Amino acid sequence: MRKIKNDVYWVGYIDWDLRNFHGYDTPHGSTYNAYLILDEKPTLIDSVKHYGADEMIRRIKQVIDPSKIQYIISNHTEMDHSGSIDVLLKHCPNAQVVCSPKGEEGLSRHFKKNWNFKVVNTGDTLDIGKRKLTFMLMPMVHWPDSMATYSAEDKILFPNDAFGQHYASTERFADEIGVGLAYDEAAKYYANIVLPFGSQVLKALEGASKMDFDMICPSHGMIWRGKEQITGLVQRYVKWANYESDAQVCITYDSMWHSTEAMAKRFYEVIDMAGIPVKLMNLQTSHMSDVVTDVLKSKVVLFGTSMLNNRMLPTVGALMMYLKGLKPKNRFALSFGSYGWSMVGFKELETSIQDAGFELLGEGKYIRFIPDQDELAKLDSILPLIQAKLAAK
Ligand code: FEO
Repeated sequence: MRKIKNDVYWVGYIDWDLRNFHGYDTPHGSTYNAYLILDEKPTLIDSVKHYGADEMIRRIKQVIDPSKIQYIISNHTEMDHSGSIDVLLKHCPNAQVVCSPKGEEGLSRHFKKNWNFKVVNTGDTLDIGKRKLTFMLMPMVHWPDSMATYSAEDKILFPNDAFGQHYASTERFADEIGVGLAYDEAAKYYANIVLPFGSQVLKALEGASKMDFDMICPSHGMIWRGKEQITGLVQRYVKWANYESDAQVCITYDSMWHSTEAMAKRFYEVIDMAGIPVKLMNLQTSHMSDVVTDVLKSKVVLFGTSMLNNRMLPTVGALMMYLKGLKPKNRFALSFGSYGWSMVGFKELETSIQDAGFELLGEGKYIRFIPDQDELAKLDSILPLIQAKLAAK
């Protein structure tokens, strides 16, 4: 366990082995953060994935006898946070499970048990002794049931998935691993988990702005503390939730025989020579969850594919399906690639780009078989289009 404030303890589980979170590449693992508040009615906020139950209970036992826990607050039904409540309740059978109305529905569907629920709504409070915990529903940040718990006495916000990062560490605070690294991981988390829910995030941020806290304890990764760290984090969330991006370009592609790759590299050179920040992401070597993190930052994205059996390459198809769900907004895109005899797949790519929420920058750039130097030079014509979009507010 780790004491994080007076009578508040981290008692979660460090998932060193996690490498994939439903499609999100997690090379650094993750944590499922549970927090124990010692008060007249000891309260646990969130739990851990089912296979972390024993470790969580061992940590709780370092602080109190688990049977003394009176409330288990489930801020979110998803099983990375609620998967061990069933096991936990065997240690504290009289504890009430505190959750949102949708949380009660979700937990009932998952566990098929008649738990002693205490259902709360925005503004409701829970008196646990010296503290009155306050709840704020945050539908779709990340599921319909999601909510945050706030302890005014501790000045702590427990927002569950919001502000989280998939990062395993024995350190518990963002400044202990480096705030820059923690912000980068928060960006990847936002891009891959939270991106579709911008308007709901803004609503939650508005609610949180009325609360006075100097610590944010999310359910994954590092804890944020201090005004400077928290302000930087909230500013980033406001920017991302408003679908703002930076004046930079991401080029992502897959290539069969290096022709599409040659086109991608020509785009990269001309954009780079113009002094525009640009990233080249080959889908054979870059995971799509990293590509999506760059999409979060980039105002312009170039998508390239070769034609395989008249279709885009499967890696590009998977990326487009992923982006269709994540729904980035206020971004521009262009398709490109090499083909042999059919261009049907390029039409599909253009449609997918628009279905994912991008506005096409112009006509796609397609070259038959191997591009020669003249054909590559003609690709430079996209530069003014990109510059115009990056310059526009
Ligand atoms: Fe970390 Fe939506 O669960």
